[in-house]
Amino acid sequence: MVGEKSVQSIRGMNDLLPGQIETWQRVESAVREVCCRYGYREIRTPIVERTELFRRSIGEQTDIVEKEMYTFTDNNGDSLTLRPEATASCVRAGNQHGLLHNQTQRLWYVGPMFRHERPQKGRYRQFHQFGIEALGWAGSDIEAEVIAAGERLWRSLGIKDLTLEINSLGSVAARANFRDALKTYLSDHVDALDTDSQRRLERNPLRILDSKDEGTQEVLDSAPSLSDFLEKAEEENFERLQRLLTTVNITFSVNTRLVRGLDYYTGLVFEWTTDQLGAQSAICAGGRYDGLVEQLGGRAVPATGFACGLERLIELVALQGEETPIQSPRVFVASLGDIPELEAIRHAESLRDAGIDAQVNCGQGNLKKQLRRADNSGAQVAVIIDDESVDTSTVKIKPLRGQGEQGTVPAAELLATVRSITGLSD
Ligand code: HAM
Repeated sequence: MVGEKSVQSIRGMNDLLPGQIETWQRVESAVREVCCRYGYREIRTPIVERTELFRRSIGEQTDIVEKEMYTFTDNNGDSLTLRPEATASCVRAGNQHGLLHNQTQRLWYVGPMFRHERPQKGRYRQFHQFGIEALGWAGSDIEAEVIAAGERLWRSLGIKDLTLEINSLGSVAARANFRDALKTYLSDHVDALDTDSQRRLERNPLRILDSKDEGTQEVLDSAPSLSDFLEKAEEENFERLQRLLTTVNITFSVNTRLVRGLDYYTGLVFEWTTDQLGAQSAICAGGRYDGLVEQLGGRAVPATGFACGLERLIELVALQGEETPIQSPRVFVASLGDIPELEAIRHAESLRDAGIDAQVNCGQGNLKKQLRRADNSGAQVAVIIDDESVDTSTVKIKPLRGQGEQGTVPAAELLATVRSITGLSD
């Protein structure tokens, strides 16, 4: 039969291979540690949710809902969507399980998200986010905590030079007033706007603040500012947050044009960016979303959170140049002959019982071949068992990384010898 064409993965959805996964595991452990340090607890929600969940939370007129969702009808005729983000799912789960009933919740999650965007470096159709969501607190104290947790994660991974920008969008009412004023102003300058912004003017004028177009930026320079529309309490809260951040030595700047691509934000929004990754510069972003719990059928519960793009974060970690050690066994067990093979598997199991990572030679082969495999495995020590070893109840031990000469020891001393060569304590 002529070879069939091999099946490839879907564009924008990547495999994470051994050799890459070690850095992912290191970052995920750092995430877990930082979340624990702040008293956040992990939540895992399904990857597929009802489409309605995202329509009602992210917003009908956002890019995500309008054109990026993987939506399908299942066999029951229900419209389902691969989650494009997890904030809505956390809130849904909170409502569904009564987690917000006279309680507050500090939650975190990590997992794949799906958006049908044009794939490029740093932008994928299946990507991973780590996020935290603090549900039940209204003040700047929790906002500072959430931001400090992010900063601690960057620090723990040795990442420097991220830029943190913050802004306050104010209440829904404040934003509506600003939106009207901005729309009126921009309508008077419509010819000077880029085409994307012209398209957004009617339905989503706030997103125009995001435009990178120089002409549009110039028009925006004289536009009304969101900060002029904040109510007194909102302004005070925002100032208090800035004091809290300064107190814990977090550097930030206020960018009054910072808006977000999801509709659920109220009050604080923030974003960490880098200049080291080209166009996809946003590493982590979030803010306050006080209306969402109620919007999804719960009581009014204030909330704040962020999500971080792990592919981008990991790219930054890789740029630090610090290699993550590749996972390899400590011991490789080689054997020559039928009876030695039985001994080999027995010894390997007792090493594993003692907590030592051991790989057994599979597929037989002469000694030279087996030692080459031992070397390629990355093990520190090869244990060799032949007929002579069986007859004399011994094993041959060959250090593979320059920790001394090959020798023979009683089989009963295998564990102690491996420990001593590889520097493990009992
Ligand atoms: P977001 O800004 O849509 O916010 O996404 C957060 C981060 O996910 C981005 O800053 C970026 O690092 C990463 N990201 C987004 N799309 C892609 C993609 N196609 N490929 C690779 N990375 C991507 C949210 O998702 C909100 N749920 C954040 C939040 C949590 N707000 C409150 N709580």
